[in-house]
Amino acid sequence: MLTKKMQDALNEQVKIEAQSSQVYLAMAAWAEIQPGFDNITGFFYRHSDEERMHMLKLIHFINDRGGFARIPSLEQPQLTFPSINHAFKELLKHEVFVSESINKLVDIALSEKDYATHNFLQWYVAEQIEEESLARTINDKLELIGDDKGGLYLFERDILQISVEGDAEQA
Ligand code: FEO
Repeated sequence: MLTKKMQDALNEQVKIEAQSSQVYLAMAAWAEIQPGFDNITGFFYRHSDEERMHMLKLIHFINDRGGFARIPSLEQPQLTFPSINHAFKELLKHEVFVSESINKLVDIALSEKDYATHNFLQWYVAEQIEEESLARTINDKLELIGDDKGGLYLFERDILQISVEGDAEQA
């Protein structure tokens, strides 16, 4: 059984994961109308789907532990970006924010002596290490590329491999 404090904190995370899915969905929709970014578009759509999966996992956990998962209303995400580099910088910032939020949840689980939730949250801790690392790898590559169109062309090709590797590691 979840304490009220734990349940409220988990429900707050449901909102954060749902909002993350919206944030990346908006990036996907924007990238889709940019010429030549088909693989980058696919990356953002897949990332958005993953966040929805993170949200659903939390919803099932809350309900399975005798709580009630509250489906939240969401904020309008950023819809347009000055460049693909900016979009990926925002993605990294967002992942760092999610990691901090997961860490706070772990703190609450420990302070509530809720070891089942603490155990459950370890999956998210590991997931955030993967996601931050992936976002940093991408940002490092984009930093190197700068304004070089040829480099961006290769990045658009290579992101398919980057995301496949990332997905394989998470599987
Ligand atoms: Fe579910 Fe990328 O945080």
